[in-house]
Amino acid sequence: MLGRVSGRIEILLGDITRCDVDAIVNAANESLLGGGGVDGAIHRAAGPGLLAECRALGGCPTGEARLTRGHRLTARFVIHTVGPVWSGGTSGEDELLASAYRSSLALAREHALASLAFPAISTGVFGFPIERAARIAWREVAAGLARAAELERVLLVCFNEPTHAVYRAIERERSA
Ligand code: APR
Repeated sequence: MLGRVSGRIEILLGDITRCDVDAIVNAANESLLGGGGVDGAIHRAAGPGLLAECRALGGCPTGEARLTRGHRLTARFVIHTVGPVWSGGTSGEDELLASAYRSSLALAREHALASLAFPAISTGVFGFPIERAARIAWREVAAGLARAAELERVLLVCFNEPTHAVYRAIERERSA
C-alpha cells in the first residue's frame, strides 16, 4: 500500500462539469450515448465531440469504465463508468457499484492522473440508496488512493444538500 489517504479526499457541493481536475467521472449507461442527470450535464458542457468519441467506443458493461477526452470541459478527460440499477440490493448491486469506482480509479492510475472528480454514481435515476452508495464510494476511493501514488486528490461531488450531508457524516466517522 502506498501513500496517505486522509486529506486527499475532498467533498464538494456543486456541479461536476465545472471541476478543474484531470478527469471527471460520468455516471453513464451501457450505451455511452448520453442520458439525463450528470450524464446529460457532462455531454451538454463538453459539446458534440464527446458524443462522437463515445459512439466509437461501442458501449461499456455495468461495473466497467472507459476514458475519453474532455472536449470543451475544463477537465482534460472524462471517465465514463456504468453503475448498477438498484433492484432491492440482492442482485449484486454493491459489488457492481464498487467495481464502477475501482475501474474508474484503475484508469486514472493507468493514465497517471493527479486529480479526479466523482459524482454519486447510481444514486439518481438508477435509485441506489444514498447512504449505502456513499459508504461504498468512500471505501473504494480510499483503497484506490492508497494504491495510486500519482493521484493527489479525489473530489466527491454532491449535487444536492442531502447527498452532501451523508458524505460529510461518513467523512466525520472515518476521521474520528
Ligand atoms: N454534477 C454533479 N452531480 C450531479 C450533476 C452534476 N451536474 N447532475 C446530477 N448529479 C448527481 C445526482 O444528483 C445524483 O446524486 O449525480 C448523481 C447520479 O445521478 P444520475 O445522473 O441520475 O446517475 P445514475 O443514478 O448513475 O443513473 C445513470 O442516468 O442519465 C442517465 O445516462 C444516465 O442512464 C444513465 C442513468
